[in-house]
Amino acid sequence: MDVVLEGLRRLEYRGYDSAGVAVLTDSGIEARKKSGKLVNLVNVIEESPIADSLTGIGHTRWATHGGPTDQNAHPHLADNGRLALIHNGIIENFAEIKQSLEAKGLEFLSETDTEVAAVLLADIYRGEGKGDLTLSLQLASQKLEGAFTLLAVHEDHPGIVVASRRNSPLVVGLGDDENFLGSDVSGFIDFTRRAVELGQDQIVTITPDTHTITDFFGNPAEGREFSVDWDAAAAEKGGFESFMAKEIHDQPAAVADTLLGRADADGRLTLDELRIDPEMLKKISKIIVLACGTSAYAGSVAKYAIESWCRIPVEVELSHEFRYREPIVDENTLIVSISQSGETMDTLMAVRYAKEQGAKTLSICNTNGSTIPRESDAVLYTHAGPEIAVASTKAFLAQITATYVLGLYLGHLRGNLFTGQIKDILADLGKIPAKIQDILDREDEIKDLARAMSEEQSVLFLGRHVGYPVAMEGALKLKEIAYIHAEGFAAGELKHGPIALIDDGQPVFVVVPSPRGRDSLHAKVVSNIQEVRARGAKTLVIAEEGDEAVKQYAEFVFYVPETPTLLMPLLATVPLQIFACELATAKGFDVDQPRNLAKSVTVE
Ligand code: G6P
Repeated sequence: MDVVLEGLRRLEYRGYDSAGVAVLTDSGIEARKKSGKLVNLVNVIEESPIADSLTGIGHTRWATHGGPTDQNAHPHLADNGRLALIHNGIIENFAEIKQSLEAKGLEFLSETDTEVAAVLLADIYRGEGKGDLTLSLQLASQKLEGAFTLLAVHEDHPGIVVASRRNSPLVVGLGDDENFLGSDVSGFIDFTRRAVELGQDQIVTITPDTHTITDFFGNPAEGREFSVDWDAAAAEKGGFESFMAKEIHDQPAAVADTLLGRADADGRLTLDELRIDPEMLKKISKIIVLACGTSAYAGSVAKYAIESWCRIPVEVELSHEFRYREPIVDENTLIVSISQSGETMDTLMAVRYAKEQGAKTLSICNTNGSTIPRESDAVLYTHAGPEIAVASTKAFLAQITATYVLGLYLGHLRGNLFTGQIKDILADLGKIPAKIQDILDREDEIKDLARAMSEEQSVLFLGRHVGYPVAMEGALKLKEIAYIHAEGFAAGELKHGPIALIDDGQPVFVVVPSPRGRDSLHAKVVSNIQEVRARGAKTLVIAEEGDEAVKQYAEFVFYVPETPTLLMPLLATVPLQIFACELATAKGFDVDQPRNLAKSVTVE
């Protein structure tokens, strides 16, 4: 039981509407489930303890079908309480299957698609599955459509857990005389570093000392074994009040580690890991970046850098919009997907669609063993380490860094950038971790501001050029964890509408580009500050060290160290992350597990 609960604690970031466990004891299956966070389940188990057991399954839920009630929580029981099943994903044909099972006189207690899978499995087990749990799961999986990871145990088979995987993630952990299953390795990282990643449409049966993989038709199959290179400590708070605060502070390392080993001192980039033919990359005529949430803003930053360095057009699109608009994609299109988790279903589906259209796909991802990189032609891993807080911080900076590395590599390959230029940019990138540290060392300046603003109802963010996605990300952080209305705008767009929102005392963050930068970018943004100020806004400015000119127009200025304009998002984002984290903490919110959100959204 403790092992299952510990695993759930580590996986709780994936969803936390409700939680439940089922274990096999001498007297049969015992299950407990409860709506709300894991602690509610722990309390239920304390009030009503369960006997010791060596086999068990557990689940934390992010509700799709049926509200987050006790009844809808997993596990779902069937076969008169002798079988327990948990599920991630969405079973699309559940209504149809439910109808046919109801016609047979079978009953349902919940509104979930999951219970349908449980009752179906039990029905097959008693019939054509002939009491063989693995065979029954194979047959049941053949009938299901949609996305699912299913795990089941049955009273008749102590010491066995069967699992099935289509689209949703599943990894096996190989221990000594004990084996594990998890949506990702963090579920069993305390017990083993050896893991096996399951492929699409596979079934695995584990016992304490074996794991057997087949396809849905019983044909033998193999998973990919890998070892986990981070330890449990990397996923602990390390003395910080929240994972988010810790992860903000991990950022110097996240950027440095993502750069590590990818370039030598002479500016030569080594991306052998990419697994893609350089000749193909020379031929591409267009890049489309696909991502969701924060990762999409990393893509927007990438657009500026890659277009500038490689002179290849870059489109950035939200994954869930992409495949519904008949996008123009061919074999000379490079799809760059960006995903921290590697499991976001919207992005996975968009990548699959692009592949079908003949595009080459490259994944920028933070999670080894996850689905999107596995299904892509090429991969560039970010090395941010495990990101636990739902609102992404260090993965964002690592993603931007990885896109820069990719941009430099493509620029070199295609002859747009000379080695000397690459060397200079890499040298500037190499200085970023220390500059982030400098910002973190001065975080109290921004924390004081955040605490003073905890009663604000609305905050606006403005930026131009690469400052624009930074403004969007700053607003997103505030929405996600502080539940404050926040909007990010392109500063130039202000006069075309949003300026109507400005009235007395409206706080407006402005991300000001370097005064050393090109053309009149700086002057234009300074004018925008004056425009909102003239209408009563309280102007809060993120500017570059030495930019004395902005002071006279700002109620508050936070200076970030000097850096070339294209690299500026790696610095300017950090104070906005600290601001959101501190403000939400001051309001008493759980910044790591904000309401209604999940870290890894494995449904479309
Ligand atoms: C969820 C998370 C966001 C994240 C987005 C994309 O919505 O709450 O923080 O940015 O998914 O996730 P990915 O793992 O694909 O980067």
